[in-house]
Amino acid sequence: MMNILILGSGGREHAFAWKLSQSKKLNKLFIAPGNAGTAGFGTNVNISAVDFEAVKKLVLENSINMVIVGPEDPLVKGIHDFFLADGLLKNIPVIGPQKDGAQLEGSKDFSKRFMMRHNIPTARYETFTKDTLLEGLEFLKTLQPPYVLKADGLAGGKGVVIPDTLEEAEKELSEMLANAKFGSASAKVVIEEFLKGIELSVFVLTDGNSYKILPSAKDYKRIGEGDTGLNTGGMGAVSPVPFADEAFIKKVEERVIIPTINGLKKEGIVYKGFIFIGLMNISGEPYVIEYNVRMGDPETEVVIPRIKSDLIDLFEGVAAGNLNEKTFELDNLFAATVMLVAGGYPEEYKKGDLITGLELVEDSIAFQAGTTSNSERQTITNGGRVIALTSFGNTMDEALKKSFMNAERIQYKNKYYRKDIGNDLKSYFIPQP
Ligand code: AMP
Ligand code: GLY
Repeated sequence: MMNILILGSGGREHAFAWKLSQSKKLNKLFIAPGNAGTAGFGTNVNISAVDFEAVKKLVLENSINMVIVGPEDPLVKGIHDFFLADGLLKNIPVIGPQKDGAQLEGSKDFSKRFMMRHNIPTARYETFTKDTLLEGLEFLKTLQPPYVLKADGLAGGKGVVIPDTLEEAEKELSEMLANAKFGSASAKVVIEEFLKGIELSVFVLTDGNSYKILPSAKDYKRIGEGDTGLNTGGMGAVSPVPFADEAFIKKVEERVIIPTINGLKKEGIVYKGFIFIGLMNISGEPYVIEYNVRMGDPETEVVIPRIKSDLIDLFEGVAAGNLNEKTFELDNLFAATVMLVAGGYPEEYKKGDLITGLELVEDSIAFQAGTTSNSERQTITNGGRVIALTSFGNTMDEALKKSFMNAERIQYKNKYYRKDIGNDLKSYFIPQP
């Protein structure tokens, strides 16, 4: 029996808590800081996931046996290394890579160089700094519009800018490099070729040697219907992705997953955790857009519920290095999630609005994201993305219909959600997963 700590506070962490609580191996669950949804599965502890000393205290006081890291921040800042370097913590497994592996997400330049070294298909690119701004401006002229500019470091999901004209791209590059638009995150900027295709994500769980390929998912990043407007953390997701058939996933495995795992090993990077591979499918050929070193949100809300196997058992395999011996079974239903957000998100929005109708949800799971409880124990909004409604179906449509129905049952002031999740996939032939 294990005591487990999940770090993070989103719908992703609620989905982890929901899944882990189904395991016979779970004793007590703690979530830091968690949200009103995770409180239903364990004890929320109001500390920040990047306050390592506070995490240490929590782990020791509650005899935690394993730590699952939800977001990238603590990983890039070295929480796993912190555990390994501490006499009292070093034998407590952390699910998530150490600082060196976390660079796959923490530095776009590192991840591009890694892909080049290991022949992993990705867009042509070059990296520039303040000192090479003029070369950067010249490089832009060699590319076709639109232009893809990426701040090297973590920028809260805002570090990628895709201007349509050369003029805008030049201005953007200057702002990022010369005016530190994203602070130290844009001290280096990756400029790359624009890839035209259809995006999807593939997730891998690895112990550093063997791996399990998790279900594919497609995320809807823009705030507006028809993929318009500002970028968000994600407005919904579906899994599996209809066009990611067996043949396509085989290509991803051979050209991306195996070279990635082998590349990490070759470079002496011990990687234990999730790898989120953002891909562009260009006429059936996979190209890597980015790596993340964690699960996606809201992709987790459709991927994790489709895993039938015991997640603690799989995590034990990751920690012990015997993941290859673990059974890994998937549900062959479609899953869809629709994110309810606060009016105004991803720009300014209000917090603290009363949420009603959660008890009316039927045939969906309400994974809470930006929620908390007020002094009267009512659930109130506490973030831009508020609740992800996940449903299953024999078809993608059936799953979506249930989520949309429940989206109407939950109420709070200025609720908004995209009603077109999955629409772009309807022209594809959809085989049963
Ligand atoms: P990233 O933060 O790297 O995931 O980039 C954010 C989004 O920008 C991605 O989800 C893609 O939609 C888009 N993007 C990034 N790189 C490229 C590229 N080379 N070509 C086309 N779109 C891209
Ligand atoms: N939904 C995209 C992400 O988690 O980065």
